[in-house]
Amino acid sequence: MKYITVTEEFDWRIKVFNSLPFPSLILTPDKVIISANRAFLEKKRTDLEKIVGKTCHQVFYDTEKPCSQAICPFSKVIAEKKSQSTLRRTEFDGNEELWVERMFSPILDENGDVKFIMESVQNLKRVITLEKKSIRIRQFLDNIIQCSPNAIVSADRQGTILLMNQAAEDLFGYSMEEAIRTKNAEDFYSFGKAKKIMRKMRSDIYGGKGRLSATQVNVVNAKGETIPVEMTGAIIYDGEEEVATTGTFYDLREKIAKDKKLKEVLIQINRSEKMASLGQLAAGVAHEINNPLTGILLYANLALERLDKADPLRKHLKSVINDTERCKDIVKDLLVYSRQTSPTKETFQINSLIEESLTLIRGQKRFLNINLVKKMSGDMMLIRADKNQLIQVIINLTMNAIDAMDRKGTLTFRTYRNKPYKKVYIEVSDTGCGIPEENLSKVFDPFFTTKGPEKGTGLGLSTSYGIVKENGGRISIKETSPRGTTSLIELPLYTPDENTSVL
Ligand SMILES: Nc1ncnc2c1ncn2[C@@H]1O[C@H](COP(=O)(O)OP(=O)(O)O)[C@@H](O)[C@H]1O
Ligand SMILES: [Mg+2]
Repeated sequence: MKYITVTEEFDWRIKVFNSLPFPSLILTPDKVIISANRAFLEKKRTDLEKIVGKTCHQVFYDTEKPCSQAICPFSKVIAEKKSQSTLRRTEFDGNEELWVERMFSPILDENGDVKFIMESVQNLKRVITLEKKSIRIRQFLDNIIQCSPNAIVSADRQGTILLMNQAAEDLFGYSMEEAIRTKNAEDFYSFGKAKKIMRKMRSDIYGGKGRLSATQVNVVNAKGETIPVEMTGAIIYDGEEEVATTGTFYDLREKIAKDKKLKEVLIQINRSEKMASLGQLAAGVAHEINNPLTGILLYANLALERLDKADPLRKHLKSVINDTERCKDIVKDLLVYSRQTSPTKETFQINSLIEESLTLIRGQKRFLNINLVKKMSGDMMLIRADKNQLIQVIINLTMNAIDAMDRKGTLTFRTYRNKPYKKVYIEVSDTGCGIPEENLSKVFDPFFTTKGPEKGTGLGLSTSYGIVKENGGRISIKETSPRGTTSLIELPLYTPDENTSVL
């Protein structure tokens, strides 16, 4: 083993000191320089003799005045016997700021007291630049997250919220601070759903392990409303360990509403086309059949008159007459359905439309056990339309309502208007059996009926649909359930002032 001699030891220390890449000084506790390394002398372009014996403030700042206690860590190094560092912005290098870190390290004597202090100066330009770059990248990423139109939420393994962007705050109705303090990721879903989503993310069949590819789920917002969203998710791993989860959410409400509207429009187009072609066919058939039916009725009645009162054939002949009359009724319906004349318009109050329709049918037996309720608005509700045609529509709806209630229940008429939208509305509600979901799309189809062959022709609603449309309005089933049905007619409000001024 080789021992280091005193001189060798001294040489060795000087060598280490000189080979330090940072400019360094050795000072006494009262800040007098006793040595400087090669890097220091090169950097300051000076010689050892010129600076030994000077104080550090003389050398660095060319002043006799020591630096203030606040920025000089000397006394702290002496008191604590531990290294201290300071960070100072010293000068500008072009546009770049120059930062300098000074490290003050105590050199202790054999009693453990501070004998000298080594001061090293390190230029931090590179480190600071990197740090600034990384801050800029971070801000850029933050901006991307914040500006994303999709809601983004991150949570740790316990479900504590870590991050929410603006869109997430809007979607869920909490500010990020509020969510961090009071919410758990599980609160954003209906009960038990969050666990299911976690299971899917951990499995590798829904987009790969740790991922959840786009899937439709419902989330719950601050008001407790359920919102359909398209969600993607990911688990964030640190090595093998799960550290956080992140989810992006796209609000589907607008899209769903649009799809529904489109579907309705397509159904309407389809229905209109079907009705137009069926209308032509029906008109042809009705004209052809009407004449022979009149003949059959005429001759059957003549035959009946001639038969003896006791003749057993009378019964059969009466059946012929009854059935023929029924055929004529159907033909009449068909002719109305296929009417090819354009409506004759007049101006009238919609309340009078209801009254007149009811006067025509109220005396019938089927009204006996019906409780009639009228909720008519007193507002001015003029329309310009073919009154006789619309009376037929009200009668159709009324008959359907009474049939649905099996002639026993409450029948309500309601009228109201929406002035800004220039619309008037008529609702006919019953407390009947309702329309099953599977029939809803068919009730306006010609010949669709659930009533026995003796009772319904299936032309009531389809005829009404055509009439209302010709008069510039719409008819629909507003509500239906086993507790009853509400049909809705919507017509354009007629405002005489505006309309006459145009004339
Ligand atoms: N208010 C209602 N309540 C329940 N079902 C109804 C109602 N209105 C119409 N419907 C259903 O719609 C079908 C078609 O009605 P409609 O076109 O008037 O023909 P019809 O009355 O000749 O059957 C009816 O058979 C019935 O099943
Ligand atoms: Mg009907």
